[in-house]
Amino acid sequence: MSAIHDLIAQISDPRLRERLSAEWANAAKEKKFGLVFEDHLPELLPLHGAKPRKGDLVCRRQEALKDVWQIQSLHAGVATCVKPSNEAHPSEPTRAAAKAVQFPVDELLVVREFGEPIFPALVPVDAVANGPLDAPWHTLIEADNYHALQLLDYLYAGQVDCIYIDPPYNTGARDWKYNNDYVDGNDGWRHSKWLSMMQRRLRLAKTLLNPADSVLICTIDEKEVHRLGLLLEQEFPEASVQMVTSVINHSGVARAKQFYRADEYLFFVFIGEASVTPTGQDMLNPPEADEDKKIILWRQLLRSGTNARREDRPRLFYPFWVDPVRKRIHSVGDYIPLGISPDSVQPPEPGLVACWPIRSDDSEGCWQISAETARKGLAEGTVKLGAYTSTRGRWSISYLRNAEKERIARGEIEVAGRDENGALILKPSATVERVKNPVTVWNQRSHNAGAGGSNVLRALLPGRKFPFPKSLYAVEDALRFFVANKPDALIVDFFAGSGTTAHAVMRLNRQDGGRRRCVLVTNNEVAADEATALAAKGLQPGHPDWEQWGICRHITFPRLKAAITGQTPAGEPIRGDYKFTDEFPMAEGFAANLAYFKLDFLDKERVSLRRAFREILPLLWLKAGAVGPRPELKRDEPEPALFAPEGSNFMVLLDETRMDVLLQALQGRAGLSHVFIVTDADESFKTLAQDVREVADKANPGLAVVQLYRDYLLNFMINQNQDRAAGSANTLGARA
Ligand SMILES: C[S@@+](CC[C@H](N)C(=O)[O-])C[C@H]1O[C@@H](n2cnc3c(N)ncnc32)[C@H](O)[C@@H]1O
Repeated sequence: MSAIHDLIAQISDPRLRERLSAEWANAAKEKKFGLVFEDHLPELLPLHGAKPRKGDLVCRRQEALKDVWQIQSLHAGVATCVKPSNEAHPSEPTRAAAKAVQFPVDELLVVREFGEPIFPALVPVDAVANGPLDAPWHTLIEADNYHALQLLDYLYAGQVDCIYIDPPYNTGARDWKYNNDYVDGNDGWRHSKWLSMMQRRLRLAKTLLNPADSVLICTIDEKEVHRLGLLLEQEFPEASVQMVTSVINHSGVARAKQFYRADEYLFFVFIGEASVTPTGQDMLNPPEADEDKKIILWRQLLRSGTNARREDRPRLFYPFWVDPVRKRIHSVGDYIPLGISPDSVQPPEPGLVACWPIRSDDSEGCWQISAETARKGLAEGTVKLGAYTSTRGRWSISYLRNAEKERIARGEIEVAGRDENGALILKPSATVERVKNPVTVWNQRSHNAGAGGSNVLRALLPGRKFPFPKSLYAVEDALRFFVANKPDALIVDFFAGSGTTAHAVMRLNRQDGGRRRCVLVTNNEVAADEATALAAKGLQPGHPDWEQWGICRHITFPRLKAAITGQTPAGEPIRGDYKFTDEFPMAEGFAANLAYFKLDFLDKERVSLRRAFREILPLLWLKAGAVGPRPELKRDEPEPALFAPEGSNFMVLLDETRMDVLLQALQGRAGLSHVFIVTDADESFKTLAQDVREVADKANPGLAVVQLYRDYLLNFMINQNQDRAAGSANTLGARA
C-alpha cells in the first residue's frame, strides 16, 4: 500500500474516505508517471506543389502554418473558406459557416493534418540499375516520414528486420522543423515538440518491425539521450532496450568549461528473439593495423592497388568460364600470353561467358592467384562466383585468402556446409574467444564522423554540403550485428539524410553476396541558411529552383547514384578507396539497383471508383518485394483485364469477371509472390482467392492474394483512427 492509501485509510469519516479514495483512483488513472510532455497536436504538413481543391485544408502562404482553413467552394480563382469543423464548436455549425472568408487561390497552401486519412501513392522520380536483373531494388522515398511510415505500414507491416534511424538531435541549432518552423534554442517547448514528433513516428515504426525477431537502432547525442531512453522504454514495454556509447570524434568537440565531447549513443531495441550476432570485431579496443580486416571472410579475386595490371602479372590473366543461366563457374581457363586479346579465346562449351580480370576503368588487370590455384579453390569451395553488374556486363569472383583458410583450420571460422554450387558456407565460430559478443562501449577509428562520414561524402559528391553524415563504417558495423545472418533482410531508415544506411547495406551485400534491401525516407528540406537565401531571391518551397537544393534531390539520390555507379555527378570516377572491413576502389561501384519516388496523395473518390491503378502500381511492385524492373502501364494504354507483366512476381486482375484469364495465366507459373484482385465484393473475393490458391499455391509457396482497393482504402482509414488515439495519450503535460 502506498503512503497516500495509508493516509486515506486513516480518515475516520467514511463518506470523505470513500470520496477521496475514488478521487485518487481517478487521478491515478489519468496521471502519467515517467516521461511527461506536452502533446503538440496537430502536426501539419505543407504540400507545396498541390493545387487547392474543394474540401482541402489550407493556410495562407504568408502566414506559414499558423491559421488553418477548409475550402468550401472555389470560383474564378477565389476560394471561400471556413474554419475546419473540428475547430468550430460542435453545437454551433452555423457560426462556422457565418465566418466564411474569401482568399485568392494563389495565396493558399494546401496542408495535411496528421490524423487526417491519407491515400498515398508514389510518383517515380528516377532510378539507377547496376545490379542483377532479378535482384530486389533499394527504395528512396522523398516525403515527410510520418506519411511515408503509414505507407510502409501498408506495404511491410511486421516484415522489417531492422530499422536504423539517426533523427535530428534537437541541438537548438535550427536542425529540424515542427509545423514548418525551425526549432531553435529559444523555443521553450522544444523538448516536448521533439518528443511528440518522435513518439508519433516510433508508434508507426513499431508496426513495421517483425514481432518475432527484429531490432530498432536509434542514434542520439547528449541533448535528448535521457528523454529518448524513457520514450523507448515507454513505447516498447515488451522489448529490451540497451544503450551503447560510441566514440565518433577522438579529439572531442569543444564545450566551454566542460569536458570535450567525443561520443554519442546508440539505443538498440531488441524485439522478440532478436540477438547480437558476434562478428569477431572487438568494438572497444581499436584493432591493430590490419586486424580489422580479419572479419570479412570472402574477398574480391580481382587484384587492386599495386601490381594490378595485366602486364605486371601476365600469368594471372586468365578467364573464369561462367554459366550465366545456372549462375555458377563452369571451369577455369589457362592464362593467355601478353599481346593476345581475350576476345580471341573461345569458350569450352557454347553458352558460357568469360569473366576476365577487368578493372573498373575497363583496363586489363590480374587476379590474385594463379589459374591452377583457382581450379583447386573451385574444387574445395574456396573460390566462388560473386555479383553480376548489369551495366558493365561483368561478373565478379570471390575467394578465401590463405589467412581465412588458416582461421578455418584453427576453428575460428566454422564451415556450416556447402552451397548449391559447392562453395563453403562460413560462420564465425562461437567457441572461439575472439568472437564473443561486443561490449557496450565502442571505440573504432572507422566510426569517426569526419573521416568515415564527411570525407566519404565529399569524395562521392565533390562540392556539395551535408551536415553531419554518419560514418559509413559505423552504420555498417551496427547493422552487421543484426543482419549478418539475414542475407535477405529488409532494412528501413526513415531519417535517411544523405543515405548512409543504404550505402552501408550495399557494402554488406557485397561482402557476402546478400540480397538485403533498404528502404530510405527523407524529406527534401533545405538548410535554414539556404532557405533564407532562396527566399531572398523571391523563391518559395515547391518551386523547382527551390526544390533542387533540397536534401533528397541534391544529396541523397546523387550520393547513392554515385556510390552505385562509381562516378561523381560530373561523371568522373570517384577518387579514393573504401577502407576497413572491405577495401576496394570507390570507383568500382556496387552491383545494386535503386528506385527513387516522391510521395503523393490520391483523391479518395478516385481510389474508391478504382480509377487510380496507374498511380497505385508502384505500390504493388513494392508490396511484392520490388523484384525485377518496375512494370508500368503507359498513359495512353487502356487498363487490361489482367495485368501480368512478363518476368514479374505479381499479377493484378482488374476485371473480376475475367477470372478465366487469371486462372489460365497461373497455370504452370512459378515465382509469384502476390496476386491482387480488384473487387468490392468481399464474398466474391473469398471465392476468387480460393480458386487462385488451388491453382497456384503449390508452385508459389506463401503466395499472398490481396483484395484491391479495399485492402488499400481500409488500411489508411484504420491508420487515421490509430493516430487519433495516439494523439490523446500525453495531454497531461508539463512544459518541457
Ligand atoms: C541527422 S540527419 C540523418 C543523417 C544520416 N544518418 C546520414 O548519415 O546522412 C536527419 C535527417 O532527417 C531528415 N528529416 C528530419 N525530419 C524529417 C521528417 N519529418 N521526415 C523526413 N525526413 C526528416 C532531415 O532532412 C535530415 O537530413
